[in-house]
Amino acid sequence: MNTDKIHYAEIVISAVSPSQYPDDGLPEIALAGRSNVGKSSFINTMVNRKKLARTSGKPGKTRTLNYFNIENSLFFVDVPGYGYAKVSNAEQKKWGDMMNIYFSSREELTLSILLVDLRHHPTELDIQMYDFLKYYDLPVLVVATKADKIKKSRRNKHINQVVQTLQLATEDKVIMFSSETREGREEVWNEILASTRNDHN
Ligand code: GTP
Ligand code: MG
Repeated sequence: MNTDKIHYAEIVISAVSPSQYPDDGLPEIALAGRSNVGKSSFINTMVNRKKLARTSGKPGKTRTLNYFNIENSLFFVDVPGYGYAKVSNAEQKKWGDMMNIYFSSREELTLSILLVDLRHHPTELDIQMYDFLKYYDLPVLVVATKADKIKKSRRNKHINQVVQTLQLATEDKVIMFSSETREGREEVWNEILASTRNDHN
């Protein structure tokens, strides 16, 4: 797959239950992160599109597992953003159930990408999400978004904050990323492709 020239990238299903997950057997890359962290922008940057995934100033809109088929080689799975205050308890429970089912049993899952905002300390919910993924023994790549907003001289401090606050396991990496400058794109693709070649199953 030539990641600089992606010809095919389409959303194929917004799934709410496992019966709707694709059965192609392609590797899946899950994208998790709080609302507004830049998940949709990340997908668009990775596939060189302006608006394949909807970006919004209105957080918390995505409530389904959105499957994006990339070159018939893999899926990006956009996981609903967490930590959006205006969601009811019942909806939060539905979200939690869906997450448990997906992350505990999805064999196609080769890498979980946790997006955090490089500008801020990871939140309590970011920590919970990371711990949740590690509870299921999943390899995690942390992508620190909006890196263009942080001066080069301040970067190390912010990265250390991310590593320390999440108590990042030694096997997990963090990569700085920007949808504005496309910084980090190639490095993230390398991690994604490496994960699809390692067969953990
Ligand atoms: P929801 O789907 O609503 O949960 O949000 P999301 O995580 O998909 O975030 P989205 O990509 O919609 O981005 C949220 C806001 O952050 C938008 O205004 C984006 O333009 C902005 N944004 C995303 N990535 C970057 C980045 O790398 N740099 C800067 N400066 N802004 C960004
Ligand atoms: Mg989004």
